[in-house]
Amino acid sequence: MSALQLSDVRKVYRSGDQDIAALDHATLDVGDDEIVALVGPSGSGKTTLLSIAGGLLRPTSGSVVVAGHDISGYEDKKLTAFRGSEVGFVFQSVNLVPFLTARENLLVVAEMTGKPKGPARSRADQLLEELGLGGRSRNLPDQLSGGERQRVAIGRALMNEPGLALFDEPTSALDTEMGEQVMTLIRTEVKERGVAAVVVTHDTRMTHFADRKVEITDGRLAASGG
Ligand SMILES: Nc1ncnc2c1ncn2[C@@H]1O[C@H](COP(=O)(O)OP(=O)(O)O)[C@@H](O)[C@H]1O
Ligand SMILES: [Mg+2]
Repeated sequence: MSALQLSDVRKVYRSGDQDIAALDHATLDVGDDEIVALVGPSGSGKTTLLSIAGGLLRPTSGSVVVAGHDISGYEDKKLTAFRGSEVGFVFQSVNLVPFLTARENLLVVAEMTGKPKGPARSRADQLLEELGLGGRSRNLPDQLSGGERQRVAIGRALMNEPGLALFDEPTSALDTEMGEQVMTLIRTEVKERGVAAVVVTHDTRMTHFADRKVEITDGRLAASGG
């Protein structure tokens, strides 16, 4: 089965009296345990595609199927619930809750979707350990380095055992060495858990961590070698 199927997705933003087609005829199939790197310059539609794939944004036309569910027609409530349990996001801006510790930033995800507390605690501790944050779990976000915050965000995205994890430029704020470390962790974690992933980047040095590379230019996708 596919973790994600985008078929002929189009997204038009109205901006004043101008229409911007941020995505056009976007068709993409991500396998169950596949990591796809989505590579393209700034403004090419990467965040738009990721937001549509995760049900944060509705396409103007086309269909979005996540783990066999066609979410295109879901109403808001159903979409929110679906997102909470099936999709993990790592946003470009990381977005940790500033007054919660690293561990609590993971636990709050399970809480919001009504997961039992005991298993959530063990899962959070295990994820933090695997991400090399065992000794940092009681720190607040501003007591963590950029790389550590990014790793907390990865743990948070995987907390609810999603089938699909979406990463928006996870290494853009990190130096090359830290970026490599974070990509290695992402690959290890999603492969071990059988999670499918789309990793958006404009950094071609990071694409060797993916199983497949897809290029995006002006809202259009093209498969690419290498
Ligand atoms: N909310 C919005 N309203 C109008 N235009 C937008 C909006 N969001 C993005 N765009 C435009 O859509 C295009 C793609 O944006 P985006 O998906 O953010 O690209 P990327 O993530 O690759 O930088 C850009 O031209 C951008 O200016
Ligand atoms: Mg973007």
